[in-house]
Amino acid sequence: MEPLKIRLDVNGMFTEFVGNDGISLTDIDRLGGKIKAATQAMEQKRTKMAWRDLPHNQANIVRDILAYAAEMRPKIKALVVLGIGGSALGPIAVQQAIHSPFYNLNEKLRGDNPQLFVADNIDPTTIADLLDMVDLRETLFSVVSKSGSTSETMAQFMIIKDILERKLGRDAARQHIVCTTDAENGNLIKIAKEEGYKTFYIPSGVGGRFSQLCPVGLLPAAFCSIDIEKMLAGAAYMDELCQNEDIWQNPAYMYAILHYIAMKKGKNISVMMPYADSLKYISDWYAQLWAESLGKKYDDNGNVVNVGQTPVKALGVTDQHSQVQLYVEGPYDKVMVFVGVDGFARDVPIPKSFEDVPSLGFLGGHSLAALLLAEQAATEYALLKSGRMNMTITLPEVNEFTIGQILYMLEVATAYAGELLNIDAFDQPGVEEGKNATYAYFGRPGYKQKKAEMDAQPKKNPKYIV
Ligand code: PA5
Repeated sequence: MEPLKIRLDVNGMFTEFVGNDGISLTDIDRLGGKIKAATQAMEQKRTKMAWRDLPHNQANIVRDILAYAAEMRPKIKALVVLGIGGSALGPIAVQQAIHSPFYNLNEKLRGDNPQLFVADNIDPTTIADLLDMVDLRETLFSVVSKSGSTSETMAQFMIIKDILERKLGRDAARQHIVCTTDAENGNLIKIAKEEGYKTFYIPSGVGGRFSQLCPVGLLPAAFCSIDIEKMLAGAAYMDELCQNEDIWQNPAYMYAILHYIAMKKGKNISVMMPYADSLKYISDWYAQLWAESLGKKYDDNGNVVNVGQTPVKALGVTDQHSQVQLYVEGPYDKVMVFVGVDGFARDVPIPKSFEDVPSLGFLGGHSLAALLLAEQAATEYALLKSGRMNMTITLPEVNEFTIGQILYMLEVATAYAGELLNIDAFDQPGVEEGKNATYAYFGRPGYKQKKAEMDAQPKKNPKYIV
């Protein structure tokens, strides 16, 4: 396993490399008590963090998922996931990491696998276009909602159920819907039971943004022939590393501690910049995880703290030509996290043309992989030179085992950062507020008081509409 271990290089966070604006070993030593308390809390609360055991306790579930995928794959050409937030971002990130960006467009790349679409928004144009494009008779719709009441996902489900029943008949429609939800609570499980839909469960104690390693993420991955056992094995390997109490041996704890100190030093922005298209959506997934888990008003003692770090998604090399100017010369308010790879699955040589033009000829004889790796190193250097905190996660290669590791590491880092900040990393009262306001707008029973509260808000002043 060692050759496939992902590495976290934190040199660029320290004063030795970035000067005064960096972190010193004394900064870490000063946190001694807090680190000890956070480490103890992670152990004591482990039984309440059901997502931590997902790499270890799903043998039967994996068997069921693989059997269902094997049964359904010959019958379908497209799998459409209906879900939002934690139900959508993980599946997209893993699919993009393992398969070509052209997977949906090219049958040769797909082989016998279905196309995969994740309907993670309710833009009516996109949904209407999607429904026009897929052949309902050869499409499976996977409805994913832990609460079973999220307006966006449930509205999509209602539309799909209605269309399927009108076009294929109620009995046939049942074969085109699979649900992933809580085993006991919410509308979706009730409907699924009444209708007899195939159902998978999100274990209690596994919140949306920590759910990629349960059926939420495993089901679509298995349909696309992604090796879910290998992904769980990668997560299990990382779990071992994340149990080390020595913070210098524990990548998740070190990631969290350095970000915590950085926040205290005013670094309120966490930029994740993968240097591989395959990892682009890992930063989307991370943005939700980091933002929704750590952006909190109250600490565990009820004090108003308004903490959190704003995640920003960037992509190397693309955003070198868009955002990096700001990162090198703008305010000292960011931590940069590069995510790189040692090697790419494929490479393209650059021919030795224009040898008589020195400003072009130097490129010839190298390859695109070499150029991309050089540009990553060059951006890291530019940040170091301008004294900006940065760290690098490196995947020896992008495969299920390394993807399992990075997902699990960032989940543990997020939970640990929550402990250091003394907040609840697993709730999302700010999101609930918006969900409740939507219910009130749409006249959901039980939300009259919320509607009255909203109506009492000051009316919009036309003077401010320009
Ligand atoms: O992380 C979370 O809990 C959220 O982002 C949820 O995943 C999102 O709000 C969707 O919720 P649900 O799965 O209940 O439909």
